[in-house]
Amino acid sequence: MSVEIFDKVKKVLEDIESAVPKSQEEVEQFRIKYVGSKNVIKPLFGEIRHIPNELKKEFGQLVNTVKQSAETKFKTLKETIEAESENTEARQIDLTAPGEPVALGSRHPISTTMNRIIDIFTRIGFVVAEDREIEDDWHNFTAMNTPEDHPARDMQDTFYLMNSAEMLLRTHTSSVQARVMTSQKPPIRIIAPGRVYRNETVSARSHCQFHQVEGLYIDENVSFADMKQTLLYFAQEMYGPDTKIRLRPSYFPFTEPSAEMDVYWGLKDETDYRITKGTGWLEVLGCGMVDPAVLSNCGIDPDRYTGFAFGMGIERQAMLLYRISDIRLLFENDVRFLNQFKSTL
Ligand code: DAH
Repeated sequence: MSVEIFDKVKKVLEDIESAVPKSQEEVEQFRIKYVGSKNVIKPLFGEIRHIPNELKKEFGQLVNTVKQSAETKFKTLKETIEAESENTEARQIDLTAPGEPVALGSRHPISTTMNRIIDIFTRIGFVVAEDREIEDDWHNFTAMNTPEDHPARDMQDTFYLMNSAEMLLRTHTSSVQARVMTSQKPPIRIIAPGRVYRNETVSARSHCQFHQVEGLYIDENVSFADMKQTLLYFAQEMYGPDTKIRLRPSYFPFTEPSAEMDVYWGLKDETDYRITKGTGWLEVLGCGMVDPAVLSNCGIDPDRYTGFAFGMGIERQAMLLYRISDIRLLFENDVRFLNQFKSTL
């Protein structure tokens, strides 16, 4: 009798081990049969009454094994079936559903403006020259005809590095002029875009960091007229074919003669009055014929070569082009501001 019961329990164990329920329903049937509240294993524990004492322990252990094996198997089956149903859900893609939009980035207005300026000059043979932002005093000032004690150093409040008198954050991209002239031979025709720094109080109109584009053209017989024609071309490409320019005498240590270029902006509304200070003219850049002292500082023979140079602030151009009223917006990277430039190239 007890042998039969043993066999019966072993048979249940075999059934459990060989069961291969595949669907969710089959797993549920397995659960009801072996793990549920009315499972077939429970009554087996009652059979212990009919087992001789010396076999009771062995029988008890066997039924326990069956119970555990059923529970373990059910747990595994349940996990597998759940994972599978997740997979099938993922595979059930509705091809007719509207797509999720991919958020597109946009170029920063400074980059757009910079690229536009670079494009205009590269079309007439200028090549881009880039150089370091941490510069030494010589390239930023001395080579550019602004030796120590020169009053023009006060025009640009400088960030020096760690109390160094020698290393600084460049105050203008004119330092690239010195870098190029000391490493290349004329003819030189470069455009140097980049970031510059000045120790200035941040306000709506000025910032301690901003961008400039520098231009330099050196060859034999380069004249002031060449410069004027080049800058007129630039202004008309930048602001429209009817743009008028004027050159006002000015002073820069590195150019002689020096000038500032204005473009005619107009006086149509109140904003025009405000940004042109009531004149209709807008200052756009500084320029001039490269001072012979700058040429010889950089190892270029001033008796043979002449050249012109110019420099302009990008933020100012971007603010004009996009009618941005506060320079700080250009550095805060607020996406609500930047999103407005999505359609620009
Ligand atoms: N470096 C000048 C500045 O930072 C701009 C400038 C003026 C550059 C005249 C030039 C130049 O090359 O010829 O304001």
